[in-house]
Amino acid sequence: MGKGKVYIIGTGPGDWELITVKGLKRIKEVDVILYDSLASKDLLRFANKKAKVICCGKSDGLHILEQSQINKLLLKFARQGKCVARLKGGDPFVFSRGIEEALYLKSKGINFEIIQGITSAFSTPESFGIPLTRKGKYSSVAVLTGRKSNQDKLDAPDCDTLIYLMAVANLKTVVKTILDSGKAKFTPCAFIERGTTRTERITSGTLADIIKKAKEYGVKPPAVFIVGEVVKYGKRIYGHKFD
Ligand SMILES: C[S@@+](CC[C@H](N)C(=O)[O-])C[C@H]1O[C@@H](n2cnc3c(N)ncnc32)[C@H](O)[C@@H]1O
Repeated sequence: MGKGKVYIIGTGPGDWELITVKGLKRIKEVDVILYDSLASKDLLRFANKKAKVICCGKSDGLHILEQSQINKLLLKFARQGKCVARLKGGDPFVFSRGIEEALYLKSKGINFEIIQGITSAFSTPESFGIPLTRKGKYSSVAVLTGRKSNQDKLDAPDCDTLIYLMAVANLKTVVKTILDSGKAKFTPCAFIERGTTRTERITSGTLADIIKKAKEYGVKPPAVFIVGEVVKYGKRIYGHKFD
C-alpha cells in the first residue's frame, strides 16, 4: 500500500459541532476533501488552506458526480500519495454508500479508515424532544428508506418506532405501506426538516393527516419521517416548537 489514505468521515446531521473530534482532526490535516452536500459546509473552513476541496453531491442522495466518478477520484488522489477526507452527512454507513466506497478502496489496495458520524435518523427527532425508545413501553426501532431505486416494495416492519429517510417525494406510498402493515391511522408521526440546523422545523400529525399537512407546510428534503407513539413525548417536552 502507498502512503495515500482515505478517511470516510460522517459529519453528523447538520450542526457542524456534532462531528466527532476525530473527524474534525482529519479535516484539518488532509490534502483533499470530497464532500456531499449534506455534510455541513461550516466544516470546510477548518480545511488546510492548501487543501483541494471538491463537491460531490446534492441532497437526498442525488449526486453531481456519479458514484463511479467519486470512486475514481478517491483512487487517483490516494495513488498520488495524498490523504483524502471523504465527508458524508450523518453516518457514512447509514444510507450513504460508505460501504461501496470502502469495498472499492479495499479492492484497489488503498489504505482507508471509517470515522463514524451521528446519523440524522437518530439525532434529528431529539432536537424536538422525541426519544426513539422508552423503557417498558417502546423498545423497537427501525431505520428505513422511503425510496428504493428499483421497483422493490418499501418496508414497514413491526416495530414501535419507524424512521424513514428520503420519504418526502414518496410520502403517499410510505404512509400506505405503514397502514397496510397494521399500524393504526391515528398513530402519531412527524417530519423533521433540516434537523439540528438553524432552520430546523417539525411538522407533526397522524398517519391520517400527515400527507395533507406535509403538502400544506411545503415539507422538503432533507427530512426525517418518524412514526410511533414516541412522537407524543416531543409535544410534552417541546410543545412550543411544534406546528
Ligand atoms: C442519502 S441519506 C443520508 C443519510 C445520512 N448518512 C445519515 O446518517 O443521516 C439523505 C437523507 O437523510 C436524511 N437527512 C440527512 N440530514 C438531515 C437533517 N439534517 N434533517 C433531516 N433529515 C436529514 C433525509 O431523509 C435525507 O433525505
